[in-house]
Amino acid sequence: MSTDTLQALISRSALEWRLTFDALEFPLLLLEMDGRIVRMNEAARALAGVTFEEAIHRLLEVLGNGQPWSVLRLLLSQVAATGERAGTQTREEHGRVWDVAISPVVGPDGDRWGIVVILDITERVRLQESLRRSETMSAMGALVAGVAHEVRNPLFGISATLDAFEARFKRRTEYRRYLDVLKERVGRLNELMQHLLDYGKPARLDLAPAVLRVVMGAAVVACAPLAVRAGVELVLDAPPDLPAPLLDRNRAVQIFQNLLENAIQHSPPGGRVLFRAGRAADGAAVEITVEDDGPGFRPEDLDRAFEPFFTRRRGGTGLGLSIVQRIAEQHGGAVAAANRPAGGAVMTVTLPLVSGRR
Ligand SMILES: Nc1ncnc2c1ncn2[C@@H]1O[C@H](COP(=O)(O)OP(=O)(O)OP(=O)(O)O)[C@@H](O)[C@H]1O
Ligand SMILES: [Mg+2]
Repeated sequence: MSTDTLQALISRSALEWRLTFDALEFPLLLLEMDGRIVRMNEAARALAGVTFEEAIHRLLEVLGNGQPWSVLRLLLSQVAATGERAGTQTREEHGRVWDVAISPVVGPDGDRWGIVVILDITERVRLQESLRRSETMSAMGALVAGVAHEVRNPLFGISATLDAFEARFKRRTEYRRYLDVLKERVGRLNELMQHLLDYGKPARLDLAPAVLRVVMGAAVVACAPLAVRAGVELVLDAPPDLPAPLLDRNRAVQIFQNLLENAIQHSPPGGRVLFRAGRAADGAAVEITVEDDGPGFRPEDLDRAFEPFFTRRRGGTGLGLSIVQRIAEQHGGAVAAANRPAGGAVMTVTLPLVSGRR
C-alpha cells in the first residue's frame, strides 16, 4: 500500500470518526485529567455556547460556572483521584436536569483521559416525579377521603344542632359570642372536609370536548361573590374560537375556581385579576393563566406551593393548589406558579389538545 493511499485511509477514518462524534445528539467530551479539553462534540459545544477553537486544548473553566460544567469539574477531580468512573445528576437553575458521567480511559500516549457523557434527563425526571406524586396522592387521597367522609356526618350533626340552638335561643344575647365562634369554627371544619374529599377523589374523569370560555365563565360566576366582597375586578378573556380540549367539566371549573380564589385573596382592594386563555406556543395545548397584582409568591415558596397542606394564609387548608395540580395532571396537563416581572402572581395551566390521560 502506498503512503498516499494510507494517508487517504487515515484521513477518511478520522473524518468518519468526527462525523460520528458530532452526529451524536447528546454532549460528549474527551478530557485530560487536568481538565484540558481534548475533544468536544457539536452537541457539547452548542450546550456550552463555544466554538471548536474556543474550547479545544483549553481548560474546562472556559465553559463557565453554570451546570453541568461546574459539577463536571468536581467529577473529574474525583476520577483523577480514584481512577474510577464517577457520575451524578445535576439541576440547572432554569430547571433542566442532567445526568453527567465520566469514565476513565487510557489515551494514545498512555496518559489517562476521561470520556464525559451528558444526558438531558429533564423529561424522565419530570415523569418520575409526577408518577411518584400521583401514586402518593392516590394513596393519601383514599385515606384522607375516608376520614373526611366519616367526620362529615357528625359534623353535619353539630351544624344542625347549632342552627337549632341559635333558632331557639336567638334572643339570649349572652350566648351570641359563643355561638359566633362555634359557627365560624364549624364552618372552617366543613370547608376543610370538603377540600379533603375533593383531594381524595379518584382519577376517573368524565371527559368531553369543552368550550373553555364557558368553563371559565362558570368559575368566574362561582367566584364573583368573593371578588365583590374583596373589591376585586375579575376580567375574563378567552377567544371564542379556541379549540376545545377534552375536559371533565366539573373538575376543570374547580381548577379555575381554586386559582381565582387565591388570586382574589392575594389582591389588594381595587385590584384586578386577569383570567385568560390561549393556544400554547407549540399549538398542541391550551394555556390558561390567572394573573393578579398582589404581592406574588415568596421566591422560596414557588416550589412548595403545590405541596398538600402548604399554606401561608390564615384559615387556609393549603390544599387548593395541590388539588389544582392533581386535576391538571389527571388531564395529562400541568400547572406552574410564577411571579410577574411587574409584580403579582401568575398561574399557568396547560391542558393538552390531543389526548388526555384517563
Ligand atoms: N396568587 C397568589 N399570590 C401569592 N401567593 C399565593 C397565591 N396563590 C397561592 N399562594 C401561596 O400558596 C399557598 C398555597 O395555596 P393553596 O391554594 O394551596 O392553599 P391556601 O389558599 O392557603 O388554602 P386553601 O386550601 O383554602 O386553598 C398560599 O397559602 C399562599 O401562600
Ligand atoms: Mg387556595
